[in-house]
Amino acid sequence: MSAQTGGMGDIYDPKFVKGVFDRCSDRYIAFSLICSLGFTERWRRQCVAAMPAPPTSGAHGYDLMAGTGEVWPHLLKRFDDIGSITAVDISSGMHRRALERLHAHSSHRIEVHRG
Ligand SMILES: C[S@@+](CC[C@H](N)C(=O)[O-])C[C@H]1O[C@@H](n2cnc3c(N)ncnc32)[C@H](O)[C@@H]1O
Repeated sequence: MSAQTGGMGDIYDPKFVKGVFDRCSDRYIAFSLICSLGFTERWRRQCVAAMPAPPTSGAHGYDLMAGTGEVWPHLLKRFDDIGSITAVDISSGMHRRALERLHAHSSHRIEVHRG
């Protein structure tokens, strides 16, 4: 599928998407909070609350399109016995921010991948 938009390129092209999030990664956390009037945090919490519990403790999960790891605090709070989370994001800027979050919280249960 192609979605050409006057001068912006194909919005479904992974290179285009990566560029958008690379450019906004330094402001993404504040930007998403302010532009959604705080709803993004509520949606993340509601999304995690609606997830089925893993059948066993120590389960492994994936956070695809993880951004800077905004959803991790909610996941780790609800599933405190989770074994590990593999987080994947296409943007190197978001990836770098996610690594900063990991270091700040010394979370050994989360592994971040760029892809
Ligand atoms: C709207 S942000 C959501 C970030 C985070 N999950 C949150 O709760 O705010 C979407 C994320 O998806 C990533 N993304 C978009 N297309 C992707 C793809 N094809 N593969 C991996 N990550 C992708 C972007 O880089 C961006 O960080």
